[in-house]
Amino acid sequence: MTENILITYASRTGTTAGVADAIGKTLSEKGIAVDILPMKDVKDIGQYRAIIAGSAIQASKWLPEAIEFLQKNREEISKKPFAAFQVCMTLAMPNGEKYRQGVSEWMEPVRKIARPIKEGIFAGRLDLKSLPSFSDRLKFKISILMGVWKEGDHRNWNEIKQWAEDLIPILIK
Ligand SMILES: Cc1cc2nc3c(=O)[nH]c(=O)nc-3n(C[C@H](O)[C@H](O)[C@H](O)COP(=O)(O)O)c2cc1C
Repeated sequence: MTENILITYASRTGTTAGVADAIGKTLSEKGIAVDILPMKDVKDIGQYRAIIAGSAIQASKWLPEAIEFLQKNREEISKKPFAAFQVCMTLAMPNGEKYRQGVSEWMEPVRKIARPIKEGIFAGRLDLKSLPSFSDRLKFKISILMGVWKEGDHRNWNEIKQWAEDLIPILIK
């Protein structure tokens, strides 16, 4: 087993990858060795001392490949300190904080696989150009025009950094 912590993610347009990088940077600055990998590139989860896993939210759910990853590695994950985070646009809505409790329920399938010692729920980014599907671009364009949310990067880097710092004492005992 290495001393490294695995930070792994599922991301469609790079936003969750950026959150994983920021968590990794915070831990590295505190002298903790990390590997930051998309879930599809994780080869041997057994070698890590702790796991941090995150997914973008689509249709109120973790991405299917993220849930598959957790299911496939359930046994190893349940043996180690495990933290989970999700990235979504609901928290970036005007008064989005009032939906935090509801958004937290999207973590329930994760909790059923392996109970996280800490959960992070972060506002993400909406970049219409980066959405591959025309119907998604149209749907989001309409939601922007209706004032549901604003296009752009809503990640709160201070909040993400603080979450990662608070994780250290419970992840590394
Ligand atoms: C097809 C699609 C569906 C989405 N569904 C939701 C949703 O149900 N709730 C939400 O809060 N955000 C939703 N989002 C917003 C994403 O979670 C947000 O843009 C996130 O930052 C994307 O992360 P990624 O770049 O790592 O894929 C959706 C985005 C897309 C493209």
